[in-house]
Amino acid sequence: MKMGRSRANELSQERGRAFAFGGLSPSLALSLALVLTLVDVPGVTALDNGLALTPTMGWLHWERFTCNVDCVEDPENCISEQLFMQMADLMVSEGWKDVGYEYVCIDDCWLASKRDENGRLKADPKRFPSGIRHLANYVHSKGLKLGIYQDVGTLTCAGYPGSYGYYDIDAKTFADWGVDLLKFDGCNSKDLESLVEGYKYMSFALNKTGRSILYSCEWPLYMRPFQEPNYTEIRQYCNHWRNYGDIFDSWSSVKSILAWTASKQESLVPAAGPGGWNDPDMLVIGNFGLSWDQQVTQMVLWAIMAAPLFMSNDLRHISPQSKSLLQNADVIAINQDPLGKQGYRLRKDEDFEVWERPLSNLAWAVAVFNQKEIGGPQNYAFSTAALGGGLGCTPACLITRILPVKEELGLYEWTSQLKVRVNPTGTVLLKLQTFQQHKSFH
Ligand code: GLA
Repeated sequence: MKMGRSRANELSQERGRAFAFGGLSPSLALSLALVLTLVDVPGVTALDNGLALTPTMGWLHWERFTCNVDCVEDPENCISEQLFMQMADLMVSEGWKDVGYEYVCIDDCWLASKRDENGRLKADPKRFPSGIRHLANYVHSKGLKLGIYQDVGTLTCAGYPGSYGYYDIDAKTFADWGVDLLKFDGCNSKDLESLVEGYKYMSFALNKTGRSILYSCEWPLYMRPFQEPNYTEIRQYCNHWRNYGDIFDSWSSVKSILAWTASKQESLVPAAGPGGWNDPDMLVIGNFGLSWDQQVTQMVLWAIMAAPLFMSNDLRHISPQSKSLLQNADVIAINQDPLGKQGYRLRKDEDFEVWERPLSNLAWAVAVFNQKEIGGPQNYAFSTAALGGGLGCTPACLITRILPVKEELGLYEWTSQLKVRVNPTGTVLLKLQTFQQHKSFH
């Protein structure tokens, strides 16, 4: 049962084919039941390392730069220390750090093909001539944090030396280098037991180093084909966890992640909370595959899902429009809301989906997503009584449209109809501020 990259890809395709939409009934009674199930489940214990109290924000090389190791032909885009230093520079100079993006993360293909004579990992000497410790110092000097990648099995997904048999030594090496986050992949494990034990062992090994190292897992993704993941357990070991196959720079990929997440929301949503999050994979905003409206949909739904926000794009070449979306303070505030509850799909009609997320201070984020891929902008009207388990606009609420363009929409009562206009494959994001009935003391 060795799982290499191709097996993992096959599995994610199988999962892709198995999607079931099964729309939820729009009736208020059902919505209320769903809200109560999803919102009122007490949070399960999280990995107690004090990290990821809100979803992690940063930049991760994989989707945009993959395993490009050709620094001769393509020096600007190959996986090298220069790439990460440039991204760190831009994270500061272009305002990314100011809005919350903090971790600069290396993915696969940074390693030399062999460990050193003491069994320690080493970076490819041509592409990382100064070494990871130097890179970490550089990233820290900018007020940012450094993430690195390894794998629970014998080899990484791209075939570099994996951590199996070296968990303690690798954890210590990362701590010595000053690494702040470990993305731990799940390729090339002997069997399910080694996969699970390896993920747990590495969590302890990181903890033992005494350095705060955020632990990003892919445990449930690799486990699901064999066994339903136990999120109560996973949450005790990982700060976030991938559940579903790799994101690509395409609308079909983003759509499949959303459909899968909605289909599994009864188990995923209660698992998320401060310290531990479901990870639907990187933001591909600013690349080649998504239209403007689709980029808005990704940003909004990743905020509703309380997803870690790891951009995988080229910060040296990004349009002002994509940059302003990724740096939109209102949508980031929703993603980072301190209540730490993941949102869910509230209803699904033929062409529209409504998602909502409870926020702190009696507020709600509501996303209306138009799935129709033909025609122009469509109007969608729905009753405010359906929102927030019937409480979002009871007795009234103030509604602000956040995206695609910010506008105060005014005061709505619980009997109001709300009408939004949404572009094909686009999403409108609203924020509702509930007014409570104030008690009179006289
Ligand atoms: C797996 C992971 C990806 C990426 C690659 C690297 O496919 O799911 O996110 O890390 O491996 O090889």
